[in-house]
Amino acid sequence: MSVTIVVGAQWGDEGKGKVVDLLSPDMDIVVRYQGGANAGHTVVYDQKQFILHQIPTGILQPDAICIIGSGVVIDPAGLMHEIELLKKEGIEVSGRLFISHKAHLIMPYHKLLDQIGEEKEGEDKIGTTGRGIGPAYVDKYSRCGIRIVDLLDRDVLREKLLKNIQAKNLLLKHIYDEEELEPDKIISEYLEFDRKMDEFITDTSLYINRAIKDGKKILLEGAQGTLLDIDFGTYPYVTSSHPISGGACIGVGIGPTKIDKVIGVMKAYTTRVGFGPFPTEFDEEFGNHIRNLGSEYGSTTGRPRRCGWLDILIARYAAQVNGIDKFAITKLDVLDTLETINICTHYRYKEKVIEHFPSESNILNSAEPVYEELPGWCTSTQKCRTLNDLPENARLYLERIEKLTEVPIEIISVGSDRQNTILC
Ligand code: GDP
Ligand code: IMO
Ligand code: MG
Repeated sequence: MSVTIVVGAQWGDEGKGKVVDLLSPDMDIVVRYQGGANAGHTVVYDQKQFILHQIPTGILQPDAICIIGSGVVIDPAGLMHEIELLKKEGIEVSGRLFISHKAHLIMPYHKLLDQIGEEKEGEDKIGTTGRGIGPAYVDKYSRCGIRIVDLLDRDVLREKLLKNIQAKNLLLKHIYDEEELEPDKIISEYLEFDRKMDEFITDTSLYINRAIKDGKKILLEGAQGTLLDIDFGTYPYVTSSHPISGGACIGVGIGPTKIDKVIGVMKAYTTRVGFGPFPTEFDEEFGNHIRNLGSEYGSTTGRPRRCGWLDILIARYAAQVNGIDKFAITKLDVLDTLETINICTHYRYKEKVIEHFPSESNILNSAEPVYEELPGWCTSTQKCRTLNDLPENARLYLERIEKLTEVPIEIISVGSDRQNTILC
């Protein structure tokens, strides 16, 4: 039995794609367990860049079977487009990609409601990716969502779509003062997807549980990150699913007794896209500097990412709520030119010392981060392939993270390419 979860330890974009790609050659199956096309997981090799949104990153390894689990909300049009792009690059998905019949569908009205909802919020908006994620999960939890399995029965699909579109039209007309949707257009478009998606649809929980029994190696690929979790993130500035490791069991359909290992992916500093609290955020000038060094622009929306120092309260919190066994530290090379590097060890709030990541927004918004300053290494780490190759101050930085979090580091990433990696 061997099931590993790869989870984001911060606000997403930690480099999960790179880490999953690195681990995939040893895996038989790679599974996405939550989120949807809000994710953008990047892999770079042979000077080519691939960005996966809905399909598991394992698809880039020719022998891996890839599964989209029941916890994912699937945008079928986007998925077909992603499959086409992969085919153009010579990557065949037929026979290798399977989709849970229980996963919910993202409909055009979900995207529309996501975007209109954000517009109407004005300054209070969350800064979503506009991919319809929130509204799709709302429908799922209010028990009117449309599932992949519904695509296979044209009468059921027509009936459910009509009911949903009528309900959304009431909202669009009376609440948002927007144009109503034409049911026929959406219905005929979605009726087409049964033919296009049929070959991929299966009972993936059954498939994975059998594979576990057969001793297959399975990797569960999280999207987003711990602080975007609907329960454990910086609510309400979160996504609408469970990126944390606990979400993997639900989103895949396996029991917690089957999980062997949790790897937390964490940048050597911190970033976030969208609005919400960020205690260790840099000032504008230094933020721009690090954004340029780290090419910190969203893989899905292209938005500039906000940047800040590494926050140990977040790292410890992520270790706690995910049960992280090992950290994968990414983008160490982005700090290569800095003379000094800060690690936030605690916050100060109204004369009080705060050592555990707080949930109160007023504290998160105004807590003052307290830093420990470490010397930088001022030399490139990109060609380092072993711990011993790393400059001493880079090793000291990593050792300090291990000491403060009490979690060992297993993988160090020193560049975006597959090769720029140190396995400890
Ligand atoms: P994910 O959503 O967690 O998979 O992360 P993204 O792909 O959205 O963002 C991570 C970005 O950092 C991508 O552009 C990666 O190619 C890049 N990247 C990953 N690891 C490293 C690294 O160690 N160094 C540098 N410089 N870039 C990296
Ligand atoms: P990966 O998997 C970073 C953020 C959005 C917004 C909030 C809610 O690439 O790490 P949503 O569209 O989900 O309703 O937006 O969550 N967000 C991400 N930030 N990486 C992601 O995915 C994200 N997916 C959503 O920017 O703040
Ligand atoms: Mg990303």
